[in-house]
Amino acid sequence: MAKVVLENITKRFGQVLAVDNLNLEIQDREFMTLLGPSGCGKSTTLNMIAGLEEPTAGRIFFDDEEVEHLPPEMRDVSMVFQNYALYPHMTVFKNIAFGLQMRGVPATEIRQRVAVVAKKLGIEDLLDRKPRELSGGQRQRVALGRAIVRDSRVFLLDEPLSNLDAKLRVATRTELKNLHYDLQKTFVYVTHDQEEALIMSDRITILNRGRIQQVGTPEEVYNHPRNEFVAGFIGSPAMNFLPGVLRQEGETLQFHSPAFTYTLPSPLLPSLSRHARRNVKLGIRPKDIRIQVPEEEAIGKAEVLLREPVGSDLYLQMKFSDAILCKVRTDADNPLQRGDVTTFAFNEQRLHFFDASTGDSLLV
Ligand SMILES: Nc1ncnc2c1ncn2[C@@H]1O[C@H](COP(=O)(O)OP(=O)(O)OP(=O)(O)O)[C@@H](O)[C@H]1O
Ligand SMILES: [Mg+2]
Repeated sequence: MAKVVLENITKRFGQVLAVDNLNLEIQDREFMTLLGPSGCGKSTTLNMIAGLEEPTAGRIFFDDEEVEHLPPEMRDVSMVFQNYALYPHMTVFKNIAFGLQMRGVPATEIRQRVAVVAKKLGIEDLLDRKPRELSGGQRQRVALGRAIVRDSRVFLLDEPLSNLDAKLRVATRTELKNLHYDLQKTFVYVTHDQEEALIMSDRITILNRGRIQQVGTPEEVYNHPRNEFVAGFIGSPAMNFLPGVLRQEGETLQFHSPAFTYTLPSPLLPSLSRHARRNVKLGIRPKDIRIQVPEEEAIGKAEVLLREPVGSDLYLQMKFSDAILCKVRTDADNPLQRGDVTTFAFNEQRLHFFDASTGDSLLV
């Protein structure tokens, strides 16, 4: 059992501020994902939890034990690296057994434990092979096996699926989720893939440039992004951002953009009225733009620039009233063609507003 707490953690590499004053509490048995673009500090954070990097400042606790000065082997963590880091000259059995041997676990117990893990991961038939005789997916299982054969307090996984092809990745993430459920351990999982994070995690920590942008459940970060970065990073295709100004008009509040003027739904007034005259961005996901609506419901007109069929859905790249580009999701059999013009409206419960200069959400 272990809760992992990072307190004011900072890591510098020379001039590079890789992790900037990070505060995070990962609950016992939680599946926590560190998500963000390349270079945002995910691996550095994971390595500090593992003990492979020492923080420049700050403290790390496993439950109530302060660990940042302990070497990795004293922390009781298991790590799966992005490149698997298997021992090439050892068989699969030896690769999995090695950590136990180093700890002096008796041979019969090792055989037993390796057998259990190999069965769980479906690699019983591969135990005599060397890593070079395995596919990428099989190697990935061996790396996982090596991690879970030890009964560690915390499991740390650094982009373990990134070397797999798309189909195997989808299958393996389901298995990993099941594995977490089976093991009932604290998992800290690193990925740059927002879909993977949404599907697998109990909670997600979104990082950018070494700083936490938001911590929340998949539903929270998707539905209530705290800033423009999170809003744009989570969800695919990405949220549309339309620049404009908020203006009070009598009792109503309007969003004025170069393309259209939109009277905001009244439930938004309590949060947004105080931002009148501010430059903002209206955020709306492709699925929350309705097209081909009756004239009386329409906000304006939009022209189809491009059709992007993806099988189950059709995405349309559209131009609103000659100015703003937007992506819109519609039914796969929608007959609209390039050059067609139609009406549009927004799903009013799904609007987001961000301060144009800070990117902060004006709604949360
Ligand atoms: N040993 C090091 N020396 C100098 N700079 C480093 C070192 N390790 C990481 N950095 C820098 O720290 C920042 C964070 O790196 P980190 O590896 O944590 O990113 P990441 O989020 O894991 O990215 P990726 O998705 O590409 O793996 C980057 O700017 C990186 O160049
Ligand atoms: Mg990394």
